[in-house]
Amino acid sequence: MPLRLTALLLCILGALSAAPAQADDIGTLQLHFGTLTYQFYCVSCHGAGGKGNGPVAAALTRPPADLTQLARQNGGAFPVEKVTAAIDGRIEIVGHLNLAMPPWGQLFAHELEAFPKGTVVEALIARRIAHIIVYLESIQER
Ligand code: HEC
Repeated sequence: MPLRLTALLLCILGALSAAPAQADDIGTLQLHFGTLTYQFYCVSCHGAGGKGNGPVAAALTRPPADLTQLARQNGGAFPVEKVTAAIDGRIEIVGHLNLAMPPWGQLFAHELEAFPKGTVVEALIARRIAHIIVYLESIQER
């Protein structure tokens, strides 16, 4: 019995150490970060697969966008700048984007308000949105 237990523990430890070893390129890590951020902030409205069917969606007057169609709606190319601006929400693009969605850039900035406003804080916000973009690109239906 103790031997079995030891074998089991070794298996679990093996599995745990195997996962990070695969994440040896920056793209994998960015996708991981982006996925986590999406699951934390976006899944409630946009749903687990990004189709716009999250648990909160039914309570909204305007349905959340289907985030798997962003490339298809743009002739097959994922519109990085437009989606970045939509997520950030702080940049006023009059007549282009008037989304019924919280400005995430403002929320991310709020989380960093203990630090002086400036390029470092802005770079971190931009990086976080870039990670979300990596995730969104991975769920595009072509
Ligand atoms: C409170 C619900 C809610 C949450 C949470 C939410 N969204 Fe949205 N989102 C919406 C709604 C509603 C729309 C539809 C836009 C509109 O027409 O106003 C939308 C639109 C968008 C769009 C624009 C799509 C297009 O067609 O251009 C993007 C991109 C997007 N959301 C990404 C995100 C990301 C990334 C997160 C997490 C950081 C997120 N959303 C969290 C409700 C939400």
